[in-house]
Amino acid sequence: MAQKPWEHAKSSGSEADPLAARFVASLDVDKRLYKHDIRGSIAHARMLEGVGLITAADLKAIEVGLKEIEAEIERQGDAWPGWKVELEDVHMCVEAALIEKAGDAGRKLHTGRSRNDQVATDLMMWVREAAQELYGLLTELCSAYVAMAERNADVVMPAYTHLQRAQPIVAGSECLAWCCMFDSDRWYLHQCVLHMFASPLGSGAIAGSSLPLDPTATATALGFEQPPWNSIAFTATRDSALDFVYGCTTIAMHLSRWAEQWIIYASEEFGFIQLDDAFTTGSSMMPQKRNPDMLELLRGKASTPYGALMALLTMCKGLTVGYNRDLQEDKRHVFAAYDCVKDCLLMATRIVSTSDFREDRIAERLHRGHLDATSLAEYLVTKGVPFRTSHQIVGRLVRKADDLERFELRKLSLEEMRAECDAVEEDVFEWLGPENVVQRYRTAGNAGASGFKEQVGKWKSRLEPPMNTDGHG
Ligand code: ARG
Repeated sequence: MAQKPWEHAKSSGSEADPLAARFVASLDVDKRLYKHDIRGSIAHARMLEGVGLITAADLKAIEVGLKEIEAEIERQGDAWPGWKVELEDVHMCVEAALIEKAGDAGRKLHTGRSRNDQVATDLMMWVREAAQELYGLLTELCSAYVAMAERNADVVMPAYTHLQRAQPIVAGSECLAWCCMFDSDRWYLHQCVLHMFASPLGSGAIAGSSLPLDPTATATALGFEQPPWNSIAFTATRDSALDFVYGCTTIAMHLSRWAEQWIIYASEEFGFIQLDDAFTTGSSMMPQKRNPDMLELLRGKASTPYGALMALLTMCKGLTVGYNRDLQEDKRHVFAAYDCVKDCLLMATRIVSTSDFREDRIAERLHRGHLDATSLAEYLVTKGVPFRTSHQIVGRLVRKADDLERFELRKLSLEEMRAECDAVEEDVFEWLGPENVVQRYRTAGNAGASGFKEQVGKWKSRLEPPMNTDGHG
């Protein structure tokens, strides 16, 4: 076993006890940070050279060595011989490999730096990229909903509150409802990225450094706007990671709602959605089955980011103000949330891109459930009837239609309606029937034809620009 090069003050290191060596290590989880670690180290080395703490020759040896290491890891992955669990983590493995290659120049790399500011910086860079990636995947999902919305723009369907028939809508408008929710996840991830404007690097272990470092230079090189605001806080908070994981949970929550909706829609009882065969599975016993397993998994997988958020919050709670080793547990949760949500977004996009509403099945029972009752109540308002009164009148008309076993308000005659309210006139029939009602909505963002038209145009332009150039507003 390699001896830890940083434990000179003690008679032995944790490598002396195999369990302790494994217990303290995070290599399995954090090796995926190697690119960010190397990028951070190169920025740090350039800064050290810039302020005269290392020579140009040192810098050259460090840069060449680190780039070689990066290429080796890229090629060999887990088989890279530099991965030594007794060195604990990615940071120490990369540095040890560099020292093997570059000797004293490699030994100078860690000047004015601690793993505390190093890992905080690496993770922040990783989270920033992950947030941008998920943002892109959310944009693709939103675009898939918009495309589906346009394909199904003219399908008139019931909307449900309490999962009971409420009012008629155009199907495209429901697609855009999901688009709206995932767009708010995009907005939130964008805020997360904007919030990561200051770099932890230069904070050292907790108190900064007495050497003439230039943390503004490293910040700029790594794409941050500012150096650390406070070396204590910046080495020991994981707030950006928490923000990001929370962003993952709301994505997962929205995905699970949509999955549940479509599981119901894909059932024989509803039959509103036809899922592509690729996204259903059969049963080992029942030959006829087309189970919506992908949707069920999308619903179930929300548990992973939810668990990650709770784990991360719990890990951070009660920590004293500087770095504590507890913080090492952060990455497994951040990565788990990201891996899970990334897969889910890809899967969701495929399902949405290959699905359509089944207009024939929806039409079969579209005229049941008095979807136009509210429209009739609003019609009476236009004739001067106070809304509370019109609500009661329509309630009586609904009962009348059902008692007469006609089940539709438009099947009552003008006289039968006028018997309940003499404000009803011939034009009432223009306000009845789901097809008429969806043409009548006129409020901003409505779920009918006019609202759909206005919204779909907005979405098309809003989904175009990538993050960072997009003004969310
Ligand atoms: N692998 C560690 C982490 O992820 C590095 C920090 C260790 N720092 C220390 N002071 N022992 O947090």
